[in-house]
Amino acid sequence: MLAIIGGSGLTQLAGLQDLKPQQVETPYGAPSGPIVQGTFAGQRVLFLARHGQAHSIAPHEINYRANLWALHASGVREIVAVATVGGISSRMQAGVLLVPDQLIDYTWGRDSTYAQGPGQAVRHIDFTWPYSAALRQRLLTAAQTLNEPVIDGGTYAATQGPRLETAAEIRRLARDGADVVGMTGMPEAALARELDVAYATLGVVANAAAGQGESAQHISMQDIEAVVAQAMQRVGRILKHVVQA
Ligand code: HPA
Repeated sequence: MLAIIGGSGLTQLAGLQDLKPQQVETPYGAPSGPIVQGTFAGQRVLFLARHGQAHSIAPHEINYRANLWALHASGVREIVAVATVGGISSRMQAGVLLVPDQLIDYTWGRDSTYAQGPGQAVRHIDFTWPYSAALRQRLLTAAQTLNEPVIDGGTYAATQGPRLETAAEIRRLARDGADVVGMTGMPEAALARELDVAYATLGVVANAAAGQGESAQHISMQDIEAVVAQAMQRVGRILKHVVQA
């Protein structure tokens, strides 16, 4: 079964019907909220709001292990993660959608593996290509069919948050080769891989990253909200197509 993890601007999935929310306990504690089972474009899917249904859980406080475990335990084998990001490279303008193909992890202090604690078997997952090629392709094909422009590829830098970055930090991420920056891409992607769940991200560029373009002096949360609200309608159309494919 396919699950959608919704981020900022997607705490509820418009068009998800016959909702059956389930509280799932895991060995790692409680997920961000109920795992919501429903029908989306005629298909059974699960939905989880990453920041909680009231958008009250900050990126560094999300229980990623519980979230991924709960989805996997509910039968999920594919996850499309929707994530808002800041744009670093020039083609990543506000409002652009992308399906990244690489990531760099700058987060710290997060529980980022299930191989933790006594008696746990150590497993070194292959993470050369952190996103599922097949699921990425399904997202891209769906967008193409709908004539929705989506950038194929890009490197996602995962920062700790919850604050936004400094201009110098963004210049450093650019030198590192990052195209976009977000706060939740890790450890989500790695935990999915540990559980053998196919995982791909549909990124929504919400703003120019700090110090870039219109964010030269500051980043306006109001502008971000307007861009994201508009982009989520396109995201919804693409997701409907993906679940039917
Ligand atoms: N930085 C980090 N995360 C983000 C940003 C940003 O500029 N925009 C949306 N999520």
